[in-house]
Amino acid sequence: MPSPMIEVRSLRMYFPVGNNLFGKRRQLKAVDGVSFDLYPGETFGLVGESGCGKTTVGRALVRLYKPTDGQIIYQGTDIAPLDEKEVQPYRRRMQMIFQDPYASLNPRMTVSSIIAEPMKLQQAPQDAIDARVAELVEQVGLKKDHLNRYPHEFSGGQRQRIGIARALAMHPEFVVCDEPISALDVSIQAQVINMLEELQQQMGMTYLFVSHDLSMVRHISHRVGVMYLGHMVELAEVEELYSNMLHPYTQALMSAVPIADPDLAAQSRRIVLQGDVPQPIDPPPGCPFASRCRHCMPVCREALPGMREVSPGHYLACHLK
Ligand SMILES: Nc1ncnc2c1ncn2[C@@H]1O[C@H](COP(=O)(O)OP(=O)(O)OP(=O)(O)O)[C@@H](O)[C@H]1O
Ligand SMILES: [Mg+2]
Repeated sequence: MPSPMIEVRSLRMYFPVGNNLFGKRRQLKAVDGVSFDLYPGETFGLVGESGCGKTTVGRALVRLYKPTDGQIIYQGTDIAPLDEKEVQPYRRRMQMIFQDPYASLNPRMTVSSIIAEPMKLQQAPQDAIDARVAELVEQVGLKKDHLNRYPHEFSGGQRQRIGIARALAMHPEFVVCDEPISALDVSIQAQVINMLEELQQQMGMTYLFVSHDLSMVRHISHRVGVMYLGHMVELAEVEELYSNMLHPYTQALMSAVPIADPDLAAQSRRIVLQGDVPQPIDPPPGCPFASRCRHCMPVCREALPGMREVSPGHYLACHLK
């Protein structure tokens, strides 16, 4: 294995959410001690239920958030504690593609000025900007005569292409793709995914790919991490995870994926999760999944299980194994 491009260590992102009855400040623990590595050129899929902290991890890694605690070691430098000015040189090397291609583009700017904006901010010369915009437009499958139009004149898929061109303008090494296709028609989802894969091969980028769509994550990822309530509970290479899932939460999550083959579907049992999802505000001690776990033991309510490597490259945080 090459050395990691990014080492995430005990990452914590807490948000203040007002005061409790006694006037003490309360915090929502969106991400509460997540550790993993990202290798150059890989696609790391991040899955888990709504609200488990996937977007927050992505935003913290590209430093749209300043983490509450923990380290983000980017090619040897811990960028977690850097202030706004210090983090600038890293910003252009890391980009984020957002879920909503409608909300993330400025409606008053033309396509060419949207794509050129990151280069303008870096004070690139105008002829270099023009050349790069022309190259990007071609790479993402837009046409030259689209350049002087405005975002509302485009379909969702085309808008996402504009957002992708903008994200790639500064040749990023690392891109967080946060549900990049979930707002798009099913018919164009595959086109955008194929394009992201091709661009990765051409440019050698590393992706953190956040998605609810477990079949798509299986298709696109080399390794996958499963999050639950601000914690990483399982992490493995993609085929290992999908064929040998060990965490009771991963098993429940995967059992909800529709199976195309009717014979297989009849054999498989859907695990329906019982119990309430605890609030990430004042979470109880112990395993975050304890209140909904079929196998919960007394120790699970007392001690937080640490991540252990149970077989080469397969990490698990569970008291059962
Ligand atoms: N800026 C914020 N201020 C306060 N709370 C936040 C903020 N951003 C996220 N949260 C909370 O942090 C938790 C994790 O949110 P996050 O958006 O990271 O989840 P997610 O896994 O991306 O969910 P989804 O799949 O719905 O996009 C949630 O409880 C959310 O309400
Ligand atoms: Mg999200």
